[in-house]
Amino acid sequence: MRYRISIRRHKDGAQYVQTYVIDAPPTTTVLDALITIREDLDGSVAFRYACRMGVCGACAVKVNGRPVLACATKLMDLGTQDIFIEPISDKNVIKDLVVDLQK
Ligand code: FES
Repeated sequence: MRYRISIRRHKDGAQYVQTYVIDAPPTTTVLDALITIREDLDGSVAFRYACRMGVCGACAVKVNGRPVLACATKLMDLGTQDIFIEPISDKNVIKDLVVDLQK
């Protein structure tokens, strides 16, 4: 299935939206999609993850306006092929989807 994935990016104090198109099975997670984008399309996209099991919370982002764990959210469960990914918080964004939640 073809997905249009838009990412709100933050870089050097500027914000912009960049859209990528990927073909992926519907069971693909949001984190898998981000990894595919970084490995195949744009190595500059920044995001965090660690456990990939829905435990650590490192991959938390907002998808289509809702807070989710990227590793525990399947594309097919979003009900759309247009996906908008933002940082989990607008505060303390370090780069793209990476947020410093310690501050
Ligand atoms: S990577 Fe740990 S919760 Fe997603």
